[in-house]
Formats: sequence, structure tokens, C-alpha cells
Amino acid sequence: MILHTSLMLGALALATTVGPCGGEDIVADHVGSYGINVYQSYGPSGQYTHEFDGDEEFYVDLQRKETVWRLPEFSKFTSFDPQGALRNIATAKYNLDILIKRSNSTAATNKVPEVTVFSKSPVVLGQPNTLICLVDNIFPPVVNITWLGDGRSVAEGVSETSFLSKSDHSFLKISYLTFLPSADDIYDCKVEHWGLDEPLLKHWEPEIPAPMSELTETVVCALGLAVGLVGIVVGTVFIIRGLRSGGASRQQGPL
Ligand SMILES: *[C@@H]1O[C@H](CO)[C@@H](O)[C@H](O)[C@H]1NC(C)=O
Ligand SMILES: *[C@@H]1O[C@H](CO)[C@@H](O)[C@H](O)[C@H]1NC(C)=O
Repeated sequence: MILHTSLMLGALALATTVGPCGGEDIVADHVGSYGINVYQSYGPSGQYTHEFDGDEEFYVDLQRKETVWRLPEFSKFTSFDPQGALRNIATAKYNLDILIKRSNSTAATNKVPEVTVFSKSPVVLGQPNTLICLVDNIFPPVVNITWLGDGRSVAEGVSETSFLSKSDHSFLKISYLTFLPSADDIYDCKVEHWGLDEPLLKHWEPEIPAPMSELTETVVCALGLAVGLVGIVVGTVFIIRGLRSGGASRQQGPL
């Protein structure tokens, strides 16, 4: 019966772990956005990127006229001629001038960016980690994302993505800061955008388990040990009593 139940549970566990994975393999929807062209009168400046499933594959550095892969390894397998991007950007620039005239130079409406800060992995003191500042709902695509450590500007270990496209035509940008967690770390992700009255500081501090938990562990351990010891004593008493009464009945036997 017990064997049966555990087999059933095993089969169930297997079904739940295999189930969703198999499903994902069959229903696989992917989106490649090959050539997101952005050109704006601020600067003026432009951006040309390719995305796959919402992640940046590369951008074309329009000044240096070169393709910059998000992960350098990508360049080993494939290549992209930056000339195509430069042609597209030239067209976008031409069209923008026409659209500006048609709109009587009405300026774009600023959206209010939304900022979230979190660490890549659970924080362990002394173990290298990455802080992620995700800035969503950016429009127009002009923003400064910087990091403050203990209120001072941090430049080392900082990198960021291009403006990533969103279905509502706003943009998303992610800034990364590699860091070595220590107990008194205080970080802020600072975001400047025209949709904000003043720079937005998103605060982050490591969530280090309170020393209380170690105390709790010790208490639980001590209690467990005490209960165990009491069990041994009580058990021994019962065994001795059992032996005595057994001896007594044997003695009573012949009477
Ligand atoms: C631009 O201005 C002209 C002349 O004042 C007007 O006729 C036209 O409707 C305006 N267009 C827009 C998009 O506001
Ligand atoms: C970004 O920083 C630069 C340099 O400090 C500044 O000139 C610019 O106005 C800032 N941009 C925004 C959107 O605040």
C-alpha cells in the first residue's frame, strides 16, 4: 500500500516536472524585430537595433559606423553590415522632417518612467553580484541612468542596454552595476527624464537575514535535543518497568 502510494506520488511528480517543459517545446512562439529604427530631433540622434524575443542582439554605433553585439560571443557566429543601418537612419531622418512640418512642430508628450531595482542573484556577503535598474515606460527615448553608492557617483562596473522597444511605442532600458555585497551597502539608481520634475532615486539595500534566525536555529536545535533526551529517559523507564513486571509475572507463574 505504502509502495503503491509512493509510486503514484513519484509518477505525479514526474508528470508535473516533465509536463510544462514538453509543452514549451511544442508551443514555441518567438519574435524577431530586425531593424528598429529610431530618429529624433533631440541631438539630433538615432538608434538602430535588432531584437530577439525582447532581448537586444546588437545596435549599430552610428558615429563609428560599426555593429556592437550585446554579447561579444555573437560576433563569432554571425555578422551585420552597418551600412544597412546607416541607410535606414537616413530615411528615418528625412521622414521625421516631413512629419515635424505636418504636425506644426508640436512636441512629443513626455511619459513618466517607472523604475525598479533588484539584484541578479540572492545577496550573499562577499559573493560578486549585479544590481539591475530597469527603467520602463520611457518616452521620448532620452534618459540618464546613473548609480550612487553611499550617495556618491559610481562609474566602475556600470553598463546598459540600448532602448528596447515596447508594444505601446515607449521604451525600456536596463542599467547594470556589478558589485561585491557588504553589510552596510546602500545603493541608488538615479534616473533623469523630462517626464520627472526632479531626478528619481530608487533606493536599494541588501536584505541580509537577521542574526535572529541563527538564534532561532540554536533554540530549535536545543529544544529538539531536550525532547530527544526526555524520550530516551522515558523510554528507558518504560523498558525497565516492562522487564520488572515481566519478571514479576514469571515469578507469579508457578504460584
Ligand atoms: C497646422 O497649422 C495650420 C495653419 O495654422 C493648420 O491649418 C493645420 O490644421 C495645423 N495642423 C495641425 C496638425 O495642427
Ligand atoms: C543628462 O545629463 C546631461 C549631462 O549632465 C544633461 O545635460 C541632460 O540634461 C540630462 N538629461 C536629462 C533628460 O535630464
